[in-house]
Amino acid sequence: MTTLSPKGTVAYDIIGRIAWLRFNRPEKRNCMSPTLNQEMGDALAELEFRDDVGVLVLSGEGTSWSAGMDLKEYFRETEPKGLGAVRQAQRESYGWWRRLRWYQKPTIAMVNGWCFGGGYGPLFACDLAFAAEEAQFGLSEINWGILPGGGATKVALELMPFRRAMYHAMMGETIDGTTAAQWGLVNEAMPLAALRDRVEEVAQVLLKKNPVALKATKDAIRRVGEMTYDNAEDYLVRAQEAANSFDNEGRHEGIRQFIDDKTYKPGLGTYDLEKRKA
Ligand code: COA
Repeated sequence: MTTLSPKGTVAYDIIGRIAWLRFNRPEKRNCMSPTLNQEMGDALAELEFRDDVGVLVLSGEGTSWSAGMDLKEYFRETEPKGLGAVRQAQRESYGWWRRLRWYQKPTIAMVNGWCFGGGYGPLFACDLAFAAEEAQFGLSEINWGILPGGGATKVALELMPFRRAMYHAMMGETIDGTTAAQWGLVNEAMPLAALRDRVEEVAQVLLKKNPVALKATKDAIRRVGEMTYDNAEDYLVRAQEAANSFDNEGRHEGIRQFIDDKTYKPGLGTYDLEKRKA
């Protein structure tokens, strides 16, 4: 059963512990208005700590993933209201992207269509990203006269090599899903018709992993990029020790099923989470 946000800009279904969350303004190509940003923030808060959600997938209703910020409602109608309104709108959008970057559950961007400008914020916020070959990605800001703000420039440089990021930001050209995968914006691209099945396949794998270890892992990958080797080494020791305080038995069980039971090989698969509970 689909849950719609009060103003209908966001929708989700929970099926088999996967939350299929969607931008839901297809008639506006899912561009992000202040209303959508508020409702997306609320939906993410609702879903984050639920036991019936193990993985979150973010996609878009209709032909678009997200056409970026709403040029009318987010920029033109907000700016005349003054600095407070502008900062408020920024906080609401940047706020839900930040929540998503550090989300408790693994997250997957399923890029089904257009992905422009501000859309790069949630794109980067998701841990993994899969795109339709038919999708089109662009830093279009330069085409309407601003720099790629709201973190989009940072995203470009985080995900792409310098020359590609510079070209992408300065030229304002679109690239398709296949090129986006080659350039590092997404993990993989495939025909739109195959996209949902592939995302579900990945989500099913994630659902079988130790959730405490997954959260520690995804945070570690984001954190260590800015650390020296020594600092990273230290952080990782401490992050694992902190994870042990939430789940100290998981790794013992993982070792036991390999060494004693010989029921799986860690190099080739995951230990059985259910067995410990039995
Ligand atoms: N802000 C505000 N409105 C937007 C929008 C945006 N970012 N993207 C699309 N829309 C609106 C259009 O104004 C149009 O509204 P209308 O029906 O009231 O006229 C509606 O959504 C459909 O858009 P349209 O341009 O007709 O769809 P399309 O499928 O032909 O083209 C895009 C899709 C995404 C290529 C095109 O809409 C576009 O270039 N959008 C802006 C993308 C952008 O630069 N985003 C960066 C913002 S930081």
